[in-house]
Amino acid sequence: MEDALALTPAIEAFDAVAARFDARFGAWRSVAAQRRAVRRALARAFPRGAHVLEIGGGTGEDARWLAARGRVVQLTDGSPSMVRIAREKLRSQRGPTPQVVAAEALEQWAAERESAGEARFDGVFSNFAALNCVDDLEGCARGLARLLRPGAPALLVLFGTMCPGEVVVQLARGDARAALRRRARGAVSARLGGRAFDVRYHRGGDLAAAMGPWFRLRRRIGVGVLVPPSAAEPWISRHPALVRTLEQIDRVLERPLAPLGDHVMYWFERTGSESQGSESHRQGVRALGLRPRGLTPANPNRSDPRQVRSGGWGVHELGILLPSERGRFHPSLPTSYPLGS
Ligand SMILES: C[S@@+](CC[C@H](N)C(=O)[O-])C[C@H]1O[C@@H](n2cnc3c(N)ncnc32)[C@H](O)[C@@H]1O
Repeated sequence: MEDALALTPAIEAFDAVAARFDARFGAWRSVAAQRRAVRRALARAFPRGAHVLEIGGGTGEDARWLAARGRVVQLTDGSPSMVRIAREKLRSQRGPTPQVVAAEALEQWAAERESAGEARFDGVFSNFAALNCVDDLEGCARGLARLLRPGAPALLVLFGTMCPGEVVVQLARGDARAALRRRARGAVSARLGGRAFDVRYHRGGDLAAAMGPWFRLRRRIGVGVLVPPSAAEPWISRHPALVRTLEQIDRVLERPLAPLGDHVMYWFERTGSESQGSESHRQGVRALGLRPRGLTPANPNRSDPRQVRSGGWGVHELGILLPSERGRFHPSLPTSYPLGS
């Protein structure tokens, strides 16, 4: 039945490579180093026993790591094949079964959970740019607001939009277009497993504005400031001592040079009320020097938390959420996705 789901092009692409994902992605030292940086923050944000939601959790690498350290993780991902692998990987861990939920369907899923009397989560995270596949960040933020209790941390790792490491690597390859692709606004074409889809290099200010009505931005952490992006693979993995050194330096630079990361972790906190969220969040955004473009909490047409978009999503007969209207959104992902085309 899962084959009949209407998946976005990005989810379809990831679905097609799910079986090969761990073997390829997991072997690369740059990825492992960046994952360690993310995990340090996850361990700090979520205490043992916390019920944590994961968005775009893929094959469950981080969920398994957290579960082994006493966190209760509800993994979600849009790809049925990724979720099947994650279920297998997490079978021996205590905790909820991974679910197929697209990030665009979070609000609908939250409504289902509320009707079923399910508790809100103590936190959420999303690693390695799953949200760069999502166009509608506001809808995603609305869903997260309903899924999290006040005070809950939300750690969202997206692609950085000015990554010197990628510029250097791509220019060295003579590919000026790839070197500058993260500066693009809107959809950027990518390929993965032979399938084409779009990526969006969301600016920090736009993410902050989308989250603003319900969340306060506390800090940003650069993930892969000197540790290079996967574009430097497989070359960089042949130099483990270099990766280790760059990783050590990144521990010092991750806060002051956060915007230069291959990925950037945005660390938000769910506020107690919408107005409180907007004010303290605006202060946080100003303090970090982020500039939202055309999307601010003061713009009622775009970010009024009470405004709920009607329609667009249906519930599959198996209880899996899916877009009822194919093509309603245009998620995407970058050519820097490590499996190539
Ligand atoms: C680069 S992978 C990262 C996976 C995992 N977070 C990790 O760190 O290994 C991106 C993941 O996002 C998922 N994804 C893409 N678009 C999505 C969407 N619209 N909703 C939910 N998940 C999505 C893909 O299926 C894939 O598993």
